[in-house]
Amino acid sequence: MTLAPPAAGRREEVRVSYEVLLTETAAFLARLGVPAGRARLAAEALCYGDLTGMDSHGVFNLGRLYRPLLESGGADPVAEPRIRRDLGACVLLDHRRALGLWAASEAMDLAVGRAARHGIGLVSVLGGTHFGCAGVHARRAAERGMVGVVASNCGGQRIARPPLGAAALLGTNPLSVAAPALPGRPFVLDMSTTVVPTGRVRTAARDGREVPGGWLTDDAGRPVTDAAAFDRGEAWLGWLGGGPETGGFKGFGLGLAVELLAALLPGAASGPAPAALEGDGRPGGSDDDIGFLVLAISPGMLRDGFAEDARRMFGTVLDCPPLPGRGPVRYPGHPEAERAEACRASGVALPASLHAELSGLGLRLPALEESR
Ligand SMILES: NC(=O)c1ccc[n+]([C@@H]2O[C@H](COP(=O)([O-])OP(=O)(O)OC[C@H]3O[C@@H](n4cnc5c(N)ncnc54)[C@H](O)[C@@H]3O)[C@@H](O)[C@H]2O)c1
Repeated sequence: MTLAPPAAGRREEVRVSYEVLLTETAAFLARLGVPAGRARLAAEALCYGDLTGMDSHGVFNLGRLYRPLLESGGADPVAEPRIRRDLGACVLLDHRRALGLWAASEAMDLAVGRAARHGIGLVSVLGGTHFGCAGVHARRAAERGMVGVVASNCGGQRIARPPLGAAALLGTNPLSVAAPALPGRPFVLDMSTTVVPTGRVRTAARDGREVPGGWLTDDAGRPVTDAAAFDRGEAWLGWLGGGPETGGFKGFGLGLAVELLAALLPGAASGPAPAALEGDGRPGGSDDDIGFLVLAISPGMLRDGFAEDARRMFGTVLDCPPLPGRGPVRYPGHPEAERAEACRASGVALPASLHAELSGLGLRLPALEESR
């Protein structure tokens, strides 16, 4: 994630109003057939990436991913999710190819409603499509004083191979845990279980930047810093933790845990299927029929004082003294909330190439100021 202040960067940027970006993105999705209210919810989920600095999952993906997804029928713009089984606290929900950007948020709202009644609400989703940032959906629970957990597999898409393995089996399988913390600054852990999502490699390739040594390796396991090597099929994405010697089994294990909770549970498509072992082991498979884990927990129904204790705990993290010349110390979600506040006030800086691409798609995004 880019945590640089929203104002500056070495690349050419165009600053646009967040509200205009949101409205134009919603209008674009509506032109692709998504009903207006859900197009707005989807746009909020997509622009959250740009607002918080998780720009690998922001409007960068509008023309590259969501437009072809909707135009090809991979996502059905007017799909209506259907409950397949309802146990009260537990729901099995078929998204029926609904656009994940809005449908995962609605699934969390359903989970929150169930948690308000039962203390816990689990919505296990199959038939899903790409939902963008996991954290934008998880934090909906935190906004209602609850703990939210969201995870997604990548359907049958296989990108990363197990440590010591020669065939790609799993996607980048994101995971998010959100909870109330300090006012206006919820805890939002939001991450891929691979060392980075593919979008971060692709944004680096787009900007002509090298990637750090731990992100990609070649067939022999040597570090690769050329970001474009990934899409040329010459480099592999690593796991959180790195190689087998530095904790990579933990990232891989987390990726498998997400596959289990998000896909095996509802019966969605899964990466580690026998077909994965039939070809040359290279990345492949389709991201149809994605599975989501959407969980809300209501701490207030278990005991009093959770919110105060959370404020104290996360406040203590903020008070941690920084190393000399480093810091400040923050908890996950805090820097994103700060950045979002700044972007709402003074605009979102888009790379000039992305701004031109979005303009080509028909979004009207007047520059607040031309920067570098
Ligand atoms: N839909 C999908 O298939 C898919 C797949 C992979 C990733 N993603 C999404 O991509 C986005 C980016 O993922 P990522 O792995 O690049 O995340 P990241 O590396 O940018 O951030 C990971 C975590 O580190 C925390 N963090 C970063 N800097 C911090 C600091 N200074 N202090 C405290 N905490 C800090 C963040 O709050 C975040 O919770 C996420 O929203 C994720 O859900 C989606």
